[in-house]
Amino acid sequence: MARILTGIQPSGNFHIGNYFGALKPLVEMQDRGQVIAILVDMHALTTVHDPELLRASTRNGAVDWLACGLDPERCVFFRQSDVPAHAELTWILSTVTPNGLLERAHAYKDKVARGLSASAGLFFYPVLQAADILLYDADVVPVGKDQKQHLEIARDIAVKMNETYGRGQPLLTLPEPEISEELATIPGLDGQKMSKSYGNTLEIFAGEKALRKRVMSIVTDSTPLEAPKDPAGSTLVTLYKLFATPDEARRMEDEHRAGGVGYGTFKQRLFEAMWEHFAPQRARREEILARPDYVEDVLRDGARRANEIAEVTMDRVKRAVGLR
Ligand code: ADP
Ligand code: TRP
Repeated sequence: MARILTGIQPSGNFHIGNYFGALKPLVEMQDRGQVIAILVDMHALTTVHDPELLRASTRNGAVDWLACGLDPERCVFFRQSDVPAHAELTWILSTVTPNGLLERAHAYKDKVARGLSASAGLFFYPVLQAADILLYDADVVPVGKDQKQHLEIARDIAVKMNETYGRGQPLLTLPEPEISEELATIPGLDGQKMSKSYGNTLEIFAGEKALRKRVMSIVTDSTPLEAPKDPAGSTLVTLYKLFATPDEARRMEDEHRAGGVGYGTFKQRLFEAMWEHFAPQRARREEILARPDYVEDVLRDGARRANEIAEVTMDRVKRAVGLR
């Protein structure tokens, strides 16, 4: 069975871009193979230096992923910091990683250009990510386009390890990236890519009133109610299609072209469809929140299973490099 692995940054509240771009595909992959989903809190430590904030966002991240369908019976879901082998393997990998490989990392250069302090941890970020992947002999790593280079770095590091220590047979499994290029970018309230950093999101778990207000603030042109409107470039129609049946979507497009229906009506319809769509996830989230120990139990059990797999890899690696 293929082993599918991904890392989840515990940051901020989930929006429908995250849901359709990352959460939903991963949840569906649980039918295809063994999913290993890691809450990468040690990666988050490269940018978050507020302990309460880090603890809270890691916990919220776990709750939201479980509420959205990650199933602890069918996947291994855990906190990176609960498996010490991630840090240990990072060190070993770093000793064969050329500095130049890390110096070329776009994500590092972008973060420093945006004003983050150029710490050694931020520089090492891709090595820790390689350790996440290589510890579990992952076959497939589904990620967004922005992570393509980090996966190439992980592969390069694995090749280096195999060349240096492989003795004829590979020591580490080379991961295959699965880049979701064909997946359309979900637009935000202003029509740009929906992103936390643009403040243009619709959050999955926003309250009813707050969500309605957000939907009502979607930017539209000033075509009057009675005039025909173009459905092609409309953010409203694009978003509505995520939640509506094909018939419902066609009706909204027809009503755009015919005129006589205002944007306010379309927005109300979008709000209702989205609110209804996430009702099961909201209910599941309430259930989880009502059981205070549930999330901790899930993560602890996940860490136990992850440690078992990681220890086998570490034993192999330590023997190969001469540490055991
Ligand atoms: P943000 O841009 O809000 O900071 P992240 O970079 O944390 O979001 O995204 C986490 C994952 O969610 C990404 O790897 C990507 O797959 C997905 N994602 C984020 N925004 C969108 C979007 N607008 N459309 C599709 N997928 C998205
Ligand atoms: N760097 C990834 C991101 O920002 C998160 C991540 C950490 C990851 N470790 C990983 C993704 C391992 C895939 C595999 O989205």
